Amino acid sequence: MSRKNELYVKKIENGTVIDHIPAGLALEVMKILGIDGRDGYIVSVAMNVPSKKYGKKDVLKVEGRELSQAEVNKIALIAPNATINIIRSYEVYEKNKVKLPKVINDIVKCSNPSCITNRREPVEPAFTVEQLEPLKIRCRYCNRLMEKADILKQF
Ligand code: CTP
Ligand code: ZN
Repeated sequence: MSRKNELYVKKIENGTVIDHIPAGLALEVMKILGIDGRDGYIVSVAMNVPSKKYGKKDVLKVEGRELSQAEVNKIALIAPNATINIIRSYEVYEKNKVKLPKVINDIVKCSNPSCITNRREPVEPAFTVEQLEPLKIRCRYCNRLMEKADILKQF
């Protein structure tokens, strides 16, 4: 038996597999999902595993949990090629590639402290996606340009 592509972590029965995460960013995705190990979920992580399409990738498997749209949108910010696989009874029940909305609202805060979106009675943030890779988003109110590193700081 000489399968080249062995499984690094075993298949799950029910839950979510986040696949094709850029190598090294699985922990950031865990942060987005609020997973810290104390929540009781069974979680497996594979980091820097070989990927046919992108060289190396991370994979995150969370049992018994499905993701909200806001969580998927946040993942899209840092893992634009990720696929979200919903697993039911060991089968891939649904497979979706993440997609960043054209306008980003409630999932990112503007990093300019004097932006109107950071006032005491704030206006809801709004960013336009200027470039996907590397990611650049621009605040529609103060024009502040934000990159992946600025966004990662918030998670
Ligand atoms: N998976 C899992 N448990 C299952 C079924 C699938 O952990 N019961 C994982 C697989 O290991 C893989 C991902 O979910 O990481 C997607 O499964 P599948 O669609 O079968 O794999 P591929 O065809 O390789 O996916 P893609 O085409 O998206 O790369
Ligand atoms: Zn701003």
